[in-house]
Amino acid sequence: MPPEQPDGAGDLLHSQARPPIIAIDGPGGAGKSTIARQVAERIGFVYVDTGAMYRAVTRAAIDAGLAAEDGLLSPEGVKLLAETVDIAFRRDGQTQRVLLNGIDVTQAVRQPEVERLVAHVAALPGVRRALIPQQRRMARRGGVVADGRDIGTAVLPDAECKFFITADFDTRVERRYRELCHRGRALLRSQVEADLRARDRMDETRTEGALRRAPDAVLVDTTDLTVADAVERVLSLCPGVAPRSALAGRVAPGTGAQARDSEASRS
Ligand code: DC
Repeated sequence: MPPEQPDGAGDLLHSQARPPIIAIDGPGGAGKSTIARQVAERIGFVYVDTGAMYRAVTRAAIDAGLAAEDGLLSPEGVKLLAETVDIAFRRDGQTQRVLLNGIDVTQAVRQPEVERLVAHVAALPGVRRALIPQQRRMARRGGVVADGRDIGTAVLPDAECKFFITADFDTRVERRYRELCHRGRALLRSQVEADLRARDRMDETRTEGALRRAPDAVLVDTTDLTVADAVERVLSLCPGVAPRSALAGRVAPGTGAQARDSEASRS
């Protein structure tokens, strides 16, 4: 028996005994979360959105008065909070809910005040050291798609399939701008651009868990790809994972016909 490891890293060594792990990293606005969620759905894997975990700690810090408009008031307090809060994901039909101490914060972690502060919270080494063991525990049994900035490099370096998803800067700004407009936010495109640039800089330069491509990660540039194409690209590069539609085609004639139709319309 291998020695028990408190952070679950030991279990990850026995990769043959469990379904694979798919690690997806990349900068904001590249389409990473959408692709990760759809890949997970297609193959029946659990989606671990690590960005939502940093957002949940940020939400908790704001609510506890440890962070305000202009920055973190108590980095030590935020670290202690990260060590004690309970963050969980719950599947609700097509959406994944984020629970903070049992309370649904799915919308609350997407609010502007969280957007502004989350990169500062994620840059605190103490916060990363509190969340990474939780992320490893969530992936312990395999069968997960985890996305973030440091999944393939630091959190789950033994993941069987690693991707680095990116797109050119203007495309990422445009996507983020459209997404925020879609959510009803009145914003200037120039503000979105400045925020994304600042976030990129913080993500790339922090001392721990900086955004970078793992040497064995496949680069997927989504600048000229649709989400569907990017999902297919990822699935095609993950040996041993069977898309649900392929399985359905074998067991359910109705679904199989639909699958063949949609296959035909793509070609
Ligand atoms: O992917 P996102 O926009 O929800 O991420 C929110 C913030 O958390 C962003 O500033 C990057 C940071 N993050 C991180 O530092 N490490 C991760 N594994 C995931 C996200």
